[in-house]
Amino acid sequence: MSKPTTDVSIDNSGVDPQTNFSLNPTFAAIVDSRMARRKFLKGSMGAAVAAFIGGSLAGCSSNNDGEPAPVVTPVATPALLGFTAVAAGRADAIVVPQGYSAKAFLPWGTPLTGSYPPFLADASNSGSEQEQQVGMHHDGMHFFPIDSRSGGTSSTEGLLVFNHEYIDHNLIHSNGIDTVPRIADQVRKEIAAHGVTVAHIQRQANGDWGLVANSPFNRRITGATPMQLAGPVRGSSKVVTKYSPDGSATRGTLNNCGNGFTPWGTYLTCEENWAGYFVNTDAEQPREHSRYGVSDNNGRYFWETATPQADVYQRFNASSTGATAADDYRNEPNTFGWIVEIDPFNPDSVPQKRTALGRFGHEGIIFGKLEEGKPVVLYSGDDSRFEYIYKFVSRAPYYKNTAGGHLLNEGTLYVARFNDDGSGDWLALDINNADFIAKAAAAGVSFADQADVLLNTRLAADVAGATKMDRPEWGAVHPETGEVYFTLTNNSRRTAEQVDAANPRADNTEGHIIRWHERDTQAATTFDWDIFLLAGDVGTETPGTDLTLSAENHLASPDGLWFDKNGLLWIQTDMSGSQQGEGPYGNNQMLVADPVTRQIKRFLVGPTDCEVTGISATPDMKTLFVNIQHPGDRSTPGNFTSHWPDGGTNRPRSATVIITKDDGGVIGS
Ligand code: FEO
Ligand code: CA
Ligand code: CA
Repeated sequence: MSKPTTDVSIDNSGVDPQTNFSLNPTFAAIVDSRMARRKFLKGSMGAAVAAFIGGSLAGCSSNNDGEPAPVVTPVATPALLGFTAVAAGRADAIVVPQGYSAKAFLPWGTPLTGSYPPFLADASNSGSEQEQQVGMHHDGMHFFPIDSRSGGTSSTEGLLVFNHEYIDHNLIHSNGIDTVPRIADQVRKEIAAHGVTVAHIQRQANGDWGLVANSPFNRRITGATPMQLAGPVRGSSKVVTKYSPDGSATRGTLNNCGNGFTPWGTYLTCEENWAGYFVNTDAEQPREHSRYGVSDNNGRYFWETATPQADVYQRFNASSTGATAADDYRNEPNTFGWIVEIDPFNPDSVPQKRTALGRFGHEGIIFGKLEEGKPVVLYSGDDSRFEYIYKFVSRAPYYKNTAGGHLLNEGTLYVARFNDDGSGDWLALDINNADFIAKAAAAGVSFADQADVLLNTRLAADVAGATKMDRPEWGAVHPETGEVYFTLTNNSRRTAEQVDAANPRADNTEGHIIRWHERDTQAATTFDWDIFLLAGDVGTETPGTDLTLSAENHLASPDGLWFDKNGLLWIQTDMSGSQQGEGPYGNNQMLVADPVTRQIKRFLVGPTDCEVTGISATPDMKTLFVNIQHPGDRSTPGNFTSHWPDGGTNRPRSATVIITKDDGGVIGS
């Protein structure tokens, strides 16, 4: 039976509800963490970064504490931040500094594979055609030089790999979604618009980048692509499904938000708000569903209702409908929430879900600094209110010549506790760790094995006593010092009683950036942290620093974060529509910061109602790739709030933006 449009309530926010109501402690008071900050800057950042960016310690000035603060020579910083900051604004266009150019590239619907079906401006492409086109809502991204597997550093040809986080039902179909049960081909199209694009691109004679048509590397990975489960959860009874009775496989990757890339040349895509795609109407949901927010009503897009019915759609109904788990899809949600490794250089490769890295709302994934003969270390944030930051340390050491995905199958997953004195601890979530098991027992929680711990990573972190954060988004690791920066985008639900030193503001609508350095090696279990930046309006100060935000760098809701090879920190924002419309910040934007001096300049402002997310560059830093997601996201069918990038009266399309400097120089100079 069809329902009228008004009965179809689609959550288009892309944000999961708060699901952490655990009682592990928050710190009651803000304490003075200036001691920690001083240790941080003196112990690591100062000399290392100044030397790295080509400057030297010209002298020491005093900060407010009377302690010496690192100062770089006037020569080094302007060389990298010499552009004039762009103003905040509300234009339906990309704005970059004078002397730079920005061009849209590979928008949603670009023909990519197969018969290369052209994008139809009225959005009437079929599901089958979408499977051969670039997906919707671009997000995390990485440029792989075409010769990188042989040690090359091409800056003129490579594989651009990027995520498609979600879909906008008002834009993906000519007339939006009009019925429940859903029309199967509409659902097929929506599933195909999710996932990952691999695009073989090349710089042409006129300087423009183009897609290499008919390249065997061009590939779409979607919400239906066959994948394997790897690591401790593979074969668990809790991932047995009708599709995979031995618990070794699943179909698709969903809500691919941030990304990572490995030293061995593969891409990592992160499953963030995947829980909302499923429904489980059983009287009681298992903890693997309830702690992550699986609905007991309907999936976000009602995919489970697709008609005519087919197994590939019915799997979104995770209710117990069969005699056993091998007869239904009660465990399908347990095959999501992972980091997925994709080999972009092998078009036939089967993506691997790396379960050892934990199951949560993975925003992004970032490697710590590599050392030959030492474990690999990866960091990932769980973007939901009051969730956590995690670290994975491989069991096997890294050797450049033998490194590969096997390093991600065995190791220890830790969760962060930020102590109020500026120190921090990594708490092991390990079935063989006596302290962890004792804490679990004290909380009345038990785990059958490490697969059970990993399937319930959030619960494991609850009982371990991790620090609840203000929505951890992307992380970035300084290429020389190994210091780790993380965005905490916002958390309007934190109350004054829940404030702690690492999340120091109640009703935190603007967000902040935290950073730490590991004591000893990257794999250490203790660290020192401080707050790099409190976001906010002009005049916002970050206590204990000289930073006061101005008209050239005020910002809110920091999200994307990336260090370029020159040691500059790029910050992308994801303000809500109302924060962009009613706040002082204008449209979502991208800024660039010197991590030592905290000089910060706004580099880019995006078009109306977009999010700026995803960033990579060619090795010569002369082409910067940035993604613009959901321009015009308040649009309704036929009434578009943005027309970017095609202009006129066209529907808006997410797209990559290629940024170059008109004089051929380094981006950020
Ligand atoms: Fe997909 Fe947390 O942003
Ligand atoms: Ca994000
Ligand atoms: Ca966000």
